[in-house]
Amino acid sequence: MTGQPKGFHIGASYYPEHWPQERWERDLGAMTDLGFTAVRMLEFAWSRLEPRPGEYRFDWFDRAADLCETFGLSMMLGTPTAAPPVWLISAYPDILPVGPDGLRRQPGGRRHYCLHNERYRAAARGVVEQLANHLAGRTDIVAWQVDNEVGAYRSTFCYCDLCEAAFRRWLEARYHDVATLNQRWGTVFWSQEVRGWDEVQIPRPAMNGWTGSNKSALLDFWRFSSDALADFVGDQADALREWFPQVPVTTNWTSLTTAAFDREVMAKRIDFTSWDNYELDLYGASFNHDVVRGAKHGSQPTWTPEQRCAPPDNRQHVPLLREGEVTTMTLHNIACGSDATIYFRLEQALFGAENAHGGILDRSGGTDTRIYRELASSVPRLRQIGDAVAGSQVRARVAIVYDTTAGVAITSPLPHLVKKRSQLLSHLEHLVRPYHRALQSLGVDVDVIPCGRDLAHYDVVILAGQVIASGDLATSVRKYVAGGGCLVATPFTAHVDDNDNLVAAAVPAGLTDVFGLSVTDQDFLADGETVVLARPVGAGEAPVPDLQGVLCCDLLRLAGAEVKFEYRNRWYAGTPAIASHTYGRGTAMYVGTALDHVAVRSLLTEVLAERDVEWHDLPPDVHLRRRFGPGSGPPEVTEYVFVVNGGEVEQTVTLQGRYRDLLTGEELDGAIGVKARDAVVLCRALPR
Ligand code: GLA
Ligand code: ZN
Repeated sequence: MTGQPKGFHIGASYYPEHWPQERWERDLGAMTDLGFTAVRMLEFAWSRLEPRPGEYRFDWFDRAADLCETFGLSMMLGTPTAAPPVWLISAYPDILPVGPDGLRRQPGGRRHYCLHNERYRAAARGVVEQLANHLAGRTDIVAWQVDNEVGAYRSTFCYCDLCEAAFRRWLEARYHDVATLNQRWGTVFWSQEVRGWDEVQIPRPAMNGWTGSNKSALLDFWRFSSDALADFVGDQADALREWFPQVPVTTNWTSLTTAAFDREVMAKRIDFTSWDNYELDLYGASFNHDVVRGAKHGSQPTWTPEQRCAPPDNRQHVPLLREGEVTTMTLHNIACGSDATIYFRLEQALFGAENAHGGILDRSGGTDTRIYRELASSVPRLRQIGDAVAGSQVRARVAIVYDTTAGVAITSPLPHLVKKRSQLLSHLEHLVRPYHRALQSLGVDVDVIPCGRDLAHYDVVILAGQVIASGDLATSVRKYVAGGGCLVATPFTAHVDDNDNLVAAAVPAGLTDVFGLSVTDQDFLADGETVVLARPVGAGEAPVPDLQGVLCCDLLRLAGAEVKFEYRNRWYAGTPAIASHTYGRGTAMYVGTALDHVAVRSLLTEVLAERDVEWHDLPPDVHLRRRFGPGSGPPEVTEYVFVVNGGEVEQTVTLQGRYRDLLTGEELDGAIGVKARDAVVLCRALPR
């Protein structure tokens, strides 16, 4: 693997193939005038790079690339495989994917390909290899992007015959014989037993009514499709490395909820992770940044290959971004560990499906736009900050373990235990994100990581809705707590096995001794109903605030755990709601309900204080993030503190210790003022 990209990059996506050549100079010149350092190109240009089968045309792009070099702009280049050209589809219409309804999807948009179609794979390999071979001498390519937003619009899944055949092979490699498959999928239920691999089908909508299909089959089809996507990305990454061993490869992911695949598996095939930031607020952006960083090494920098900077054309209504908003989002990207922000896009396309999507320039290529003026004044400052912190690491002391497989089994249309018990309960929104949001509001850095990682270096680990009780989970959690860790777990911890079958054991399955309790029953609340949690009578002198939960209440049978909070209303009032247990040198806390924001925040302040993790009582919309880089001498590191205000009013944050303003050099201690839609970046030397 090539390793991490170097330095800080700021720029915009640009499509030379959309403009007459006479305009290129003016457009690239506008980027240089703004102080941009990079341009992102090519990710949809297949029909111009290969206008006819096997006939490659790179001359036009050479001219564009040479001009970028003249203007001092480095290039992030995308492979064009997200937009298979018309000639390819006309020749081989079965490249088009088939939907769950059995109907072939039609061309006219993008991402219209089946991953198991060898004609498509060969054509994709061809254009990628020819392009890489042609550009191999260039030294101004700073990163490669494979395809574009893989998995978006449910494009991970295809239900064609080729995919079905590949699914059978994937299952055979996993289970070896059909007897095992039958047993693991529980196919005896409703006579679904198969006698050979050729009887296995991709789970498609069937005569199931409210019950849904076989959950094990759905989950395996999800995994199979996810593996295929990672393989597709990995194949292209490997090809690019042949010609560009020194240029790191990524692929631009979308927000977590808009594409289904296992990010950790794909991350192993690329050099660094990145995602396109179209989030509407900084909380949404934070969560995605922490997921995308966590998918590879929680601490290493990522990129933002697309950053919303103009009205998109896919929202209910499209307000113009306010003064300072883009600058603040960029600073927040840097704060969250992103070493490149590439705006989408330089110019508004005059034609095509997306011509309502704004750009930095006006539609005639002019610079008299609000966003151009904002960037013209902020880019020098963004570069100064970006250059100073590039390559530095995020060192979160808290992790949220969030396994996308477990999550998707619940948040996607897949029928699942959680949804079957409460249609109102969203795994992500009620069991995962409240913890993340609370940590954000407390200014605590956090990695969102998949299950099975080594947890030893985290002071606090939150097991958020980890419904699958895999062997990895039990081993890593047990080791972490025994070794002195502090674990906090939510409802639905460890209920099902890897095949989504209930585990025939008390829950949390395989971990009841770690938590010192088991869940005997679960109650589900109606919309608007709440449950009140209070300290057990007689506990603690100081009046402690009650907590509030919603939607679900686990009824707990304690076996060694100590009650922290008990239910105060509902018919099980007086029974334990939150309990904590010492196991080995650490503690495991079980939270039996879906706490609301105030409650999670209040519970976490206690947990963090016990573990000596610093937190701040931040004003609304203010985010505080840290990165750590080399210091001026070996025994030192430099701590960078970002105070980002995404809100509409000026705020003050009080920090302990003496800091220097990274830009002005001014020495500061105590109260730090941050203007509305702006950020302050501080630094100080710390012992290593
Ligand atoms: C995505 C795509 C871009 C463009 C933008 C529009 O992020 O990657 O090509 O369609 O959305 O918002
Ligand atoms: Zn297919």
